[in-house]
Amino acid sequence: MPRALEYEEITKEYRSWFGRRRVRALQNFSLSVEYGEIFGFLGPNGAGKSTAIHLAMGFMRPSSGSGRMLGQPFDHVATRRRVGFLAENVALYHRRAEAAIRFYGGLNGLHGPALAGATHGALEAVDMQSESGRNLGQFSRGMLQRMGLAQALVNDPELLILDEPTSALDPAARVSIRELLLRFRSQGKTVFLSSHLLSEVELVCDRVAILSHGHVVRTGTLNDMLEATDQVEIVAQSVPPALFANSAVEGPRLHFAVPKSLQREAIERVWSAGGEVVSVNPVRRSLEELFLELTNPDAAPLKLTEPRAGK
Ligand SMILES: Nc1ncnc2c1ncn2[C@@H]1O[C@H](COP(=O)(O)OP(=O)(O)OP(=O)(O)O)[C@@H](O)[C@H]1O
Ligand SMILES: [Mg+2]
Repeated sequence: MPRALEYEEITKEYRSWFGRRRVRALQNFSLSVEYGEIFGFLGPNGAGKSTAIHLAMGFMRPSSGSGRMLGQPFDHVATRRRVGFLAENVALYHRRAEAAIRFYGGLNGLHGPALAGATHGALEAVDMQSESGRNLGQFSRGMLQRMGLAQALVNDPELLILDEPTSALDPAARVSIRELLLRFRSQGKTVFLSSHLLSEVELVCDRVAILSHGHVVRTGTLNDMLEATDQVEIVAQSVPPALFANSAVEGPRLHFAVPKSLQREAIERVWSAGGEVVSVNPVRRSLEELFLELTNPDAAPLKLTEPRAGK
């Protein structure tokens, strides 16, 4: 079964005009995106996200390695008609909004009533019908980003590739784009999006990949990635705070974290001190913590508390 997007061992080097300086943007980069998922592509500035996206769109070729989009090699021109693409910097010709979207629909082979209907639908999807007669030259950054999304949607794509789709959007527009992406997925379609807005990513993505210095350092479902700590948080009451180091007192309750291997011992310690265990839960990291940990090797390790050795 082909995948929506597949990168195999891709390396991409940019060379300066005279070939003296080289930048290796991607190195042994491999990634698979399945049909029907919303996939988040994360990484610090300069990690290589836009490079990977531009390779899939066939704007340039990899230095080595290969990839497939919707089952076809990246340079297969006809496949691009089945894909909607939003660039990180939206650059559209200055013309009336409706004419701009029509133009992109036309490029994708639409005409007549189908083109009119698709143009209307795309403008409506990003809530820009009321601005359809205005010139794009007068649009704000967020309005242009919405137009970029409308342009990506006009050909009713099977796969949406979005390079930071919501960076300029106001909160209401972000919510409506999130709903749009979920509707899109419910039709069996696929979304591949890069973003720095980790909280947004947590809300919509099924799986994510974290990129650092041109290669994938972690990929998986959000659930698996965020729960993969070996710590549990225990909440107890009626115990003296001094019983566990680094515990936090909240009213009558004591919160502390211990490695899973010490969970039983910690609970028994609470009981033998005459206390009561209120809850035991796996410690979930935030996506931000995981991101910083994986992309910045100098970052301080996660601060999790441990009980004093059980002496
Ligand atoms: N046209 C280019 N010529 C030379 N180097 C480039 C070019 N485009 C990108 N690079 C370099 O490739 C690396 C990856 O850049 P890329 O734009 O793919 O990162 P990114 O992950 O999209 O970052 P951001 O989050 O800032 O958008 C960077 O070191 C960048 O300087
Ligand atoms: Mg980028």
